[in-house]
This record gives sequence, structure tokens and C-alpha cells, in this order.
Amino acid sequence: MDFRKVITVAGLLLTAGAATLHAEGLKDAYQDEFLIGVAVNQRNITDPMQAALICEEFNSITAENDMKPQPTEPAEGKYNWTNADRIANFCREHGIKLRGHCLVWHNQIGEWIYTDKNGKEVDKKTLLKRLRKHIKTIVKRYKDVVYCWDVVNEAITDDPKAENHFRQSRLYKIAGDDFIREAFKAARKADPNALLFYNDYNECDPVKSKRIAEVVKTMKADGVPIDGIGMQAHYNIYGPSQQEIEDAIEKYRSVVNHLHVTELDVRANREMGGSLQFSKNASDTDEKIKAKQQERYAAIFRALRKNADIIDCVTFWNLSDRDSWLGAENQPLLFDKDYKRKAVYDIVFQKK
Ligand code: GLA
Repeated sequence: MDFRKVITVAGLLLTAGAATLHAEGLKDAYQDEFLIGVAVNQRNITDPMQAALICEEFNSITAENDMKPQPTEPAEGKYNWTNADRIANFCREHGIKLRGHCLVWHNQIGEWIYTDKNGKEVDKKTLLKRLRKHIKTIVKRYKDVVYCWDVVNEAITDDPKAENHFRQSRLYKIAGDDFIREAFKAARKADPNALLFYNDYNECDPVKSKRIAEVVKTMKADGVPIDGIGMQAHYNIYGPSQQEIEDAIEKYRSVVNHLHVTELDVRANREMGGSLQFSKNASDTDEKIKAKQQERYAAIFRALRKNADIIDCVTFWNLSDRDSWLGAENQPLLFDKDYKRKAVYDIVFQKK
């Protein structure tokens, strides 16, 4: 027996073992439940190590910022596709599905949409015409690769006492809820095959989830083509509880056939939704934070797995703690600031 051969074979087996282990990412662990997605920036898809990690772990991609209204159309009719195209091409090249995000939002939208050339506020008709044109242009451009769109983002109020369900945004003040209705219609017309979502945060809050479900139900009854609800899932280490998540899903299930978790992260403080602070509790040590976060992620995924029949996709908002919009200190994701798997990764992977 040639010992060199034995050693080579053993080496090959070891390498093969490691390779097999690595080929099994989150997307494989969840292949019977839902797609596992990630929101990406330009660095993530151009750095070879980060790009490889994305391909290993995820089978759905969302552009963190590059497909939003302002970056794609900073001035009327002046489109900027460079970054969005790069993400779309990455998806085409690697056979990864692309979630379109987002067509209409009161944030990150060009100011031009509201005003005429003399700086005067436009009327409803002009606003809707501009929105329709933007939607038609971008949806048609990425029709071959985008499988669903967040058509309208965050249009429902957070104020539990508000009489009106809708956020009093400039879009709403000019066009009323027709900006939502018309946006969905325009998206359906531009790509009849894409699934169309209404997307929002604080979506497990009992008052807000009721409002979201009511609005979607009413609009669907009026023929507005809404296929699904996007639960942003910007959570924290204290909540929401598994039960609260399940209760929200129950409400949404009664009005749509598709749910996506669109922006999942679990931050280390009490803020929810769009608050960007890092305000750690004085009594929380790093170990306590880690333990709480692991428990939260386990509970979230238990709730999601129980509802896998209606949930098609679960997207993490950013690749690693370094990329997070919440800042690395909040350590909200499954990969640390050096793109290494954290202990919480195993909890999600192993479905604990
Ligand atoms: C909201 C938006 C996202 C993103 C996050 C912060 O949730 O839907 O596109 O801007 O805020 O990164």
C-alpha cells in the first residue's frame, strides 16, 4: 500500500466533507419551508468573499437601497440604473431570485415628484401620472429577474389613536389612498407575473396589524391587485413574542395568500421599526444580549416554520453586522462584522 496515496485520498475526503458542509447553507436547511433572502449593498456583491457567502447561504436577494424611487429616478425622467443593474445582473448570473424593493415610499423618493417646475405643489392627477410612469419603467426593466415587488412601503399610521388608517404623508395628502390603489394597478399592468406586496414595519403591533389587514382587505375587494403582505420584522431582543408574531400572521392569512418576511433583524435595544438608536440597557451584559437574541431568533423561526404554508420567503436585512443599517454594535444578524457565522446562526440553521 502506497502511504502517499492513502494520505491523498484521506485529504480529498476531508476536503469533500468540508465542501459538502459549506454547500449546505440556510437556503438548503429551509428548502422545504421558504426561500431565505438577504438585502445587499454594492460591496456585498462585488467583494468575492461576500459574494461567495451570499451564493452559499441565500436564494433570494433584495437591493437594500438601489432600486428605491430616489436612487433610480433622482430627477423626472433621469434614470440611474448602474447600481440596480449590477444587482440584477448578479442575480441573473447566479440564478438567485430578486425581490423588487420598493416602488412607492414616502422616504427616499425624489422631491421632484411633488412639485412642478415653478416649485408649486402638483395636483393629484400629475402626482399619479408621475408615479405610474416610474413604476412602469422600472418594473418593465427588471421583469425577467424580479419575481415580486414591494409596491407600497409603510403607508399605514403608527399612531394607535389616529382616526384615519393612513400615514399622513405628502403622497397621501395630495392623492389620498389612490396613490396606493394606482401603484398596484400600474405594477400589475407592467408585469402581470410579479407578485405584488404591501410592506410595513411594527406589523405585529395589534392595532397596526388590524389596520394593515383592513386596508388590504378593502382594497382587494375593490379590485386592487395586492397578492401579499410584507412583514418587515425589524424586531429587538425583547420582542415581539412568538405568540404576537403568530397572531399577526393569523390576521394577514385571512386577507392574502402570500406572506413574506422582508427585512428581518433583531437589535440589541428596545427600539422597533425605523429607530436607529443604539441604547443598550445598563443591566444587559454582552452575554445576556447574546442569550436573549438567540432565544428571540429561535422563537421567530418557530413562528415562521409553523406558518410555512403561507410564508414564501424570509429575508434578512443586510448580510452581516458590519453592513447593518442599525450599526455593528447592535449585532442584529447571523453573521458577525467579519462575516463569520455566529452561534445564533446555528440556532436558526438547526431549527432549535
Ligand atoms: C425601511 C425600508 C428599507 C430600509 C430600512 C432601513 O424598513 O423599507 O428599505 O430603508 O427602512 O434600512
